[in-house]
Amino acid sequence: METVCTVADLRAYVRAWRAAEETVALTPTMGALHEGHLSLVTLGKARADRVVASIFVNPTQFGPAEDLEAYPSDEVRDAEMLEGAGCDLIFAPSVEEMYPPGFSTKVRVEGLTECLCGATRPGHMDGVAQVVTKLLNQAQADYAVFGEKDWQQLAVIRRLARDLDIPTEILGAPIVREADGLAMSSRNRYLDDAQRAAAGQLNVILRRAADRIAEGAAVEAEMAVARAPLLKAGFEKVDYVECRHGDDLTLVETFDPAHPARVFAAAHIGRARLIDNIAVAGPA
Ligand code: PAF
Repeated sequence: METVCTVADLRAYVRAWRAAEETVALTPTMGALHEGHLSLVTLGKARADRVVASIFVNPTQFGPAEDLEAYPSDEVRDAEMLEGAGCDLIFAPSVEEMYPPGFSTKVRVEGLTECLCGATRPGHMDGVAQVVTKLLNQAQADYAVFGEKDWQQLAVIRRLARDLDIPTEILGAPIVREADGLAMSSRNRYLDDAQRAAAGQLNVILRRAADRIAEGAAVEAEMAVARAPLLKAGFEKVDYVECRHGDDLTLVETFDPAHPARVFAAAHIGRARLIDNIAVAGPA
């Protein structure tokens, strides 16, 4: 498995694979990999002959008070994990390669980015849309795989690929969870033991709310009471707990099993801001 740092080198690999009639999957990451990322590679491998993993901590999706500088990084371990998962190539561009002097193009997906993390992390979803548009154009892969933990991000990426006629099929990979149900995240490594134990309550509380909504509880009332147990469990601040439709992210007023819905949350504990989402009456 090689690592390339330029778009030209990435494209040379992809061109050679295409000349050999091989298909290609891209798995964009920001490094600090865990089993959740490896599941993206596994899904990519199941669909395509070759898998490229990009590792790029994208500065444009971090706000000024966020953890860009502190974002975890472990290049050697990342490469070992990717190789073990069957990845064929790492694309690890520099900031200058991605955003050369004079770079001035923005990508905004309206309608899907004003709620949830788009509301609580201003500019975040625009930064994601920008870098993913670039990665999709750079790799020109047949498939690109993203985790369902970032459900809103996945919805935004599906929409931009459709709207901009990007001929890469976007695949969602199910959330990979720890034994207590905590969704795997690079930011989990910010947690000390007590915070880690408390963090396991996030999915428990969301699952309880999702189950109650599926059983007929009023959505608004259920969401109104979901914050308190998170704060009691040890979370210091809850950005949102909301029930929204999975496809267009509109708020659910009354749950209709014919229109799939999910309960979404973002909450802070210690240095970590954790997100999760759980299907109402469906697999997590
Ligand atoms: O989900 C992530 O790790 C990032 O948002 C992504 C998709 C790699 C874009 O920087």
